[in-house]
Amino acid sequence: MQQRELGNTGLMFRAIGLGAMPLSISGRPDEAQAFAVIEAFVADGGNFIDTANVYGLDDDDIGHNERLIRQALGQLGAIDKVLVTTKGGLRRPGGAWVVDGDPDWLRLSCERSLQALQTDCISLYQLHAIDPKVDFRRSLEALVKLKEEGKIRYLGLSNVSPAQLEQALEFTVVSSVQNHCNLFDQRDFRNGLIDFCRARRITYIPYSPVGGHHGHVRLDQEPLLQQLAAKYQASPHRIALAWLLHKGRHILPIPGASRVASIRDSLQATNLKLGADDIAALDRLAEQ
Ligand SMILES: NC(=O)c1ccc[n+]([C@@H]2O[C@H](COP(=O)([O-])OP(=O)(O)OC[C@H]3O[C@@H](n4cnc5c(N)ncnc54)[C@H](OP(=O)(O)O)[C@@H]3O)[C@@H](O)[C@H]2O)c1
Repeated sequence: MQQRELGNTGLMFRAIGLGAMPLSISGRPDEAQAFAVIEAFVADGGNFIDTANVYGLDDDDIGHNERLIRQALGQLGAIDKVLVTTKGGLRRPGGAWVVDGDPDWLRLSCERSLQALQTDCISLYQLHAIDPKVDFRRSLEALVKLKEEGKIRYLGLSNVSPAQLEQALEFTVVSSVQNHCNLFDQRDFRNGLIDFCRARRITYIPYSPVGGHHGHVRLDQEPLLQQLAAKYQASPHRIALAWLLHKGRHILPIPGASRVASIRDSLQATNLKLGADDIAALDRLAEQ
């Protein structure tokens, strides 16, 4: 089974995590089904779950996903076996997704996440996005301060460019970068960010790794994916995840799931070996 290290922390995880967002946003499953997804993930050896304070319906529902995960892991007796990484830096007014990197908001968000997750320290806390209205250093300073206070163990960034990552590294240690990346969006392979993360021992976490909350259905329609699915006797989603895993031992995709069958299938990508010609053909998919 393939494993991934978080940054250079020595902490190891199964190479496929669970993106828990679909369990809490609009169209979410009922609680029993959400619990079943988390249970199946843990039962099959999953130990890295991605959440955010804003994974819920709107500003009145902040922390929904964090509370759900905490409750499920508590019932499963798995709190110490699974790293739950969360994020701060957005708001959800009326259900919209709005960036807010104000230091006071980041502190309040982190403190609320500590409560929702019922912990004293968040193992990996990610800045959800960079707020163009706030000096990036001020947002980072707020997170570093929370780290110094012991409320955060490791820091991660999300939705960043190579230049922004380099800027952050002049200021603090960064253990992970979480960006949009999949077969149809290979930007971070082309702009050097993924290679840079490898060189600096930063875990690269592709989000929407099978094409996105709605976009993933495109995988089933792609002739190349259909052909490879038949060849490897695997779902197109599993092929898409295996392709990402082949791209580097520092890459830890976090596919979303609201159904047990989805996460069970995704986890099996860690056992799927693709041929070099097939990887090259998949590389070209984004150009079409
Ligand atoms: N940092 C950010 O700004 C950001 C933004 C977006 C997402 N994220 C994170 O990244 C995670 C994943 O992204 P995402 O949820 O947007 O997109 P995604 O993982 O590309 O797609 C999720 C959807 O694909 C389906 N799926 C996944 N694996 C499957 C499989 N093996 N077979 C069949 N269907 C499968 C699931 O369907 P079912 O629902 O039917 O199970 C799920 O709802 C999120 O949950 C969240 O944690 C972060």
